Amino acid sequence: MDTVVSGIRSTGNLHLGNYFGAIKNFIRMQHEYRCFFFIADYHSLTTHPTPENLQQNVYQVLVEYLACGLDPEVCTIYIQSDLPETAEMYLLLNMNAYVGELERVTSFKEKIRKHPDNINAGLLTYPVLMAADILIHKAQKVPVGKDQEQHLEMTRTFGNRFNRLYKTDFFPEPVAFNFGETLVKVPGLDGSGKMGKSEGEGNALYLKDDAATIRKKIMRAVTDSGPVVPNSPKPEAIENLFSLMKLVSAPDTITHFEKAYTECNIRYGDMKKQLAEDMIVYLEPISRKISELNSDKEYIKKVVSRGREKAKESACKTLEDARQIIGFRRFY
Ligand code: ADP
Ligand code: TRP
Repeated sequence: MDTVVSGIRSTGNLHLGNYFGAIKNFIRMQHEYRCFFFIADYHSLTTHPTPENLQQNVYQVLVEYLACGLDPEVCTIYIQSDLPETAEMYLLLNMNAYVGELERVTSFKEKIRKHPDNINAGLLTYPVLMAADILIHKAQKVPVGKDQEQHLEMTRTFGNRFNRLYKTDFFPEPVAFNFGETLVKVPGLDGSGKMGKSEGEGNALYLKDDAATIRKKIMRAVTDSGPVVPNSPKPEAIENLFSLMKLVSAPDTITHFEKAYTECNIRYGDMKKQLAEDMIVYLEPISRKISELNSDKEYIKKVVSRGREKAKESACKTLEDARQIIGFRRFY
């Protein structure tokens, strides 16, 4: 049975992009594969959270994973830093990762453009740590959104390089996985780009958002004055609104607004109202579960310690084998 690994950084609450890009696949995959889903708290250190924030964010993501339907009885849910074996794997992989190739990674270039005051080595080697997360369980499948494709390519590069160097086939080649045809990209509400927590207030819809917040954010989403020529192509902001609608609304609803757009009689206010109501219905069971689980600290503790145990078993085995291959062999 194939092994699956994926994680989300604990830098804030989960949003609709995380859900449709990653978690929805996690939920289905957990029943079909040997799955490890973790909370990437080492990765979150690149932005220097305070100790209180760090802990709170990890707790929150864990609660939200569970609220979405990840079942600790069928998959392994753990916290990345509970597995220091990952950090050792990262060290080992770093020896065969070249600075030049890391500097060419798009997400790194974007980070240094946006935050020129914090270009730390952790950011540069972010893809190496991600490769360590995946290779530590020898995963074949990695459910992630489209934005992570390049990182996955790097994982394959590092794993293959290790295999070549030590003349082995130890690491499998992991591929990005999605149950649909293509990897998903959920757009933001601000008219351009993707939904993300670092994209500014109002861009993202969070799984925990209540009805009033969802209505407010969607009603403020960027639109324009509407088409004047029948059958005109949609500007990006409008296309985005339709993309969001396709995620949560019924096919009839979408056809109705598509037709209105084509015939130039669309009223964006109505479309947004409908989208908001459909979104509320879609997210309500998740946000309710989040509130319920938030206060169940004992249960969360149990989930974490059980997850740690199961993940450790798998990681220790891989690390020990990798050490042997490299030549760290005991003298005693
Ligand atoms: P953020 O961009 O908000 O910081 P992360 O980078 O932590 O979110 O992403 C965690 C997971 O969610 C990854 O698998 C990523 O591909 C997916 N993801 C994040 N935003 C989107 C989006 N807008 N559309 C599709 N998938 C997304
Ligand atoms: N880099 C991923 C993101 O930003 C999070 C991540 C870290 C990850 N390690 C991983 C995803 C391993 C899949 C597998 O979303």
